[in-house]
Amino acid sequence: MEFSLGYDLVAWQNYGIKKKIVTDISAGTNSHMLINGSSGSGKTYLQSQLFAKLTQADTESVFYFADYKQDDSYEHLRSQARYFGYENTLKALDIVYGTMKARIAGEDKTRHQVTLIWDEYAANVLALYNEDKKKAEEVMRKVSEILMLARSVCVRLIVSCQIAFASSFPQGSRLNFGVICILGGFNKGIYEMLMPEYMDKVKQRVQQRDFGKGEGSILLQSSELHFIKVGEVTDIAKMERTCKFALK
Ligand SMILES: Nc1ncnc2c1ncn2[C@@H]1O[C@H](COP(=O)(O)OP(=O)(O)O)[C@@H](O)[C@H]1O
Ligand SMILES: [Mg+2]
Repeated sequence: MEFSLGYDLVAWQNYGIKKKIVTDISAGTNSHMLINGSSGSGKTYLQSQLFAKLTQADTESVFYFADYKQDDSYEHLRSQARYFGYENTLKALDIVYGTMKARIAGEDKTRHQVTLIWDEYAANVLALYNEDKKKAEEVMRKVSEILMLARSVCVRLIVSCQIAFASSFPQGSRLNFGVICILGGFNKGIYEMLMPEYMDKVKQRVQQRDFGKGEGSILLQSSELHFIKVGEVTDIAKMERTCKFALK
């Protein structure tokens, strides 16, 4: 199943062409997604778009939404049953982790896609770590297990954070994201952390023109690098309704 993530930035800027960047999101393929970038770089904007598009790509999907910062951008979702804000984000994790475990154990035979979207994951675990180290470690362990094991039982994770430290994804589980996106102006530290082998290619591009809001790099299946331009949403209200409906 082909899924559009955004547009090719080079084709857009150099030739004025809208060329989609697509990835496979069929069951069994790795469609865990990681969205990085500093504050204001467009993570939430992209995440909302992907959420709305995913509801259309797979109508059987069940979504859970964890919103640590209770971002204003998600105000329309707050009343929904599968929305979990601030101190409740761990409940969303427990439900999705429980589904994965039950499916792996054979107790749950269903295989519709279950997706957990977690906005500001790293900030969430860092705050938790300062409060209760053991609890934070348990949370990170569960996230890692989902990244490493959930694909075969149709459970998917979509995480956004300012910086995805390796320590927030123990046991090297950060390598299990099929889609890694870095948005906004070039930041050497983030690139070194997430796509070191593409540093030269990214630097070359940035020397011509640095990334702006909603622009950046996207690495698919650890092997295919594109520069991305996140499209503008023409009907925000419609996108919000779609996402809201998916969490009812
Ligand atoms: N691709 C884009 N096109 C147009 N506006 C965007 C785009 N990305 C972000 N914005 C706008 O920029 C602001 C910050 O974006 P946001 O997604 O909230 O950033 P972040 O979550 O990284 O802090 C928002 O007002 C949003 O509407
Ligand atoms: Mg945000």
